[in-house]
Amino acid sequence: MTDTIETFESIITSRKSVRAFTDKTVEPNFLKKIFTLAQHAPSNCNTQPWQVHVVSGEAVEKLRASLPEAMSKGKMSVDFPFDGKYNGVYKERQNDSASVLYTALNITREQKAERTKWFMKNYSFFGAPHVAFLFLPDSFGIREAADLGMYAQSLMLTLEAFGLASCPQTSLSFFADIIREELDIDPSNKLLFGLSFGYEDTDDLANSARVGRAPLEETTRFHR
Ligand SMILES: Cc1cc2nc3c(=O)[nH]c(=O)nc-3n(C[C@H](O)[C@H](O)[C@H](O)COP(=O)(O)O)c2cc1C
Repeated sequence: MTDTIETFESIITSRKSVRAFTDKTVEPNFLKKIFTLAQHAPSNCNTQPWQVHVVSGEAVEKLRASLPEAMSKGKMSVDFPFDGKYNGVYKERQNDSASVLYTALNITREQKAERTKWFMKNYSFFGAPHVAFLFLPDSFGIREAADLGMYAQSLMLTLEAFGLASCPQTSLSFFADIIREELDIDPSNKLLFGLSFGYEDTDDLANSARVGRAPLEETTRFHR
């Protein structure tokens, strides 16, 4: 029992968003095993509403070329609106996470062009050889979107257990039409977010950034 808890604690605390990957690809049989395990995520009435598209090889290279180009031309299309504006403690946490990342990268607040350039790395999947896109059929709503969140965490922890790393990315959902078109996905499937994954480039400064968590009392109350 103690071993199980220690192993689980190690996996859940080691997982972090990785923003630089090596070009080493994941073996197809590993990919199959990982995505089979992630299927164990719970969902409302076991509907399993996630529609997952795992993209590698030539297909990922095509998107790595077309997304930055679409960004530079402002060809955005978003299924689930997101303005990135938060208030109060949520804004503080948002600012803190940006500050941790840009401090690790030695990019100051004033270096706006550098920040934008760095943000663009989202669209080359931070160099990852694989990306998974998580779609939700349009008949579903907020509860089933939560199921996709549970699926994503199951997937990220499975990747971690296999010695792999990942970064969930809302930024990838800003080009839903292009991604659907390139992957021949039905328009009734709506893109919630993408997840770049592969092996961590441990030499890259971006991966030295580590954000904290709020004290338990700020988020959780125990009632008796
Ligand atoms: C749904 C979702 C979308 C995210 N979108 C992005 C993104 O577009 N780009 C990025 O660099 N990080 C993105 N992140 C990563 C968060 O910034 C990160 O999870 C948070 O700062 C906590 O850090 P950790 O994952 O290292 O624990 C996203 C995370 C989630 C859960």
